[in-house]
Amino acid sequence: MIDTPTPHESRAPASSTAGQTPYSAWMQTDALHSLQRTVSDHPGEHAWITHVQVSELYWMLIIKEIQTAQMYLRADNLPQAHRTLLRVVAHHEPLLAIWRSIDWMTPTDLLAILSRAVATYGQDTALQGWTYRQMVYLLGIKQPQHLDHFKPQPERWAQLARTLSEPSLYDDVLAYLGRIGMAVPKSLLERDLSAPYSPSKEVEQVWRDIYAAPVGSDGLQQLGETLADIAEGFSHWKHRHLMATRRTFGARPAYFGTEGVAWLMPTMAEIPFPELWSARTFIGDPSAVCPHMSQPRI
Ligand code: HEM
Repeated sequence: MIDTPTPHESRAPASSTAGQTPYSAWMQTDALHSLQRTVSDHPGEHAWITHVQVSELYWMLIIKEIQTAQMYLRADNLPQAHRTLLRVVAHHEPLLAIWRSIDWMTPTDLLAILSRAVATYGQDTALQGWTYRQMVYLLGIKQPQHLDHFKPQPERWAQLARTLSEPSLYDDVLAYLGRIGMAVPKSLLERDLSAPYSPSKEVEQVWRDIYAAPVGSDGLQQLGETLADIAEGFSHWKHRHLMATRRTFGARPAYFGTEGVAWLMPTMAEIPFPELWSARTFIGDPSAVCPHMSQPRI
């Protein structure tokens, strides 16, 4: 069984500097730069591969950060969990920014590369990428059907199946809120965690109560805002991806034979931490700040 390497497992042996500079040994630059294997003669393929590989690295980084935050939440250490989640917010910035490096692509450019990739490896889809799916499961968007893509990679399939059935970041946040006395339904915490999450009115009320408390009183509003930032970073990435797909692919049929854009559109509504968003319809209602707001304006 393989899993995300722990910091200890990925630690280098002290003797690994033979034939290296300290920098190249530590950063593994030779290995890193041997990983871009082009399939076409298109000069832009390097940019494409670098973009995707850098995204892969950031998704793995986000996975590790989320797992660390979950560990702190389970130990009831909210300040450290929050500090870790702030790093997830920060990591979304480079993930968004690197879309710029492939914005030059026209459909002709993309198809010149993709046609060679299909000829070399067979028809691929990014849905076969396990890091993105693990991140999505950890964010609480549990869709078991995506496991099917990993049948040719049994160890990754098992890793994802485990992540699917274990608590997401949101589950750990809700469990923490329950432990500190907020009215999170026990049935929700004890449900089948591999099934898609159904938003609950009780959890929405928990977030309303958190935001009704004085600002900064217990760190929970800050936690809510950081989770909202993470959800926004994730959704912005999906929007950049959708626009890149429109720009380079138009309405062509994609992996499933259906229009790629039409397949992607419903996924835009998959926003993590649903009650944190639905509660906002009621937060500040009635206003906790200015009693004059409820009086008719002259
Ligand atoms: C710019 C050209 C691109 C096009 C035309 C494109 C097209 C698509 C399409 C049509 C899908 C839906 C599934 C399928 O039919 O394969 C998809 C999914 C996806 N693509 Fe791309 N893609 C592009 C670039 C990228 C890049 C550069 C990345 C990674 C950095 C990426 C990552 C993903 C991921 C993670 C999904 C799954 C999304 C989800 O589950 O909501 N795509 N893409």
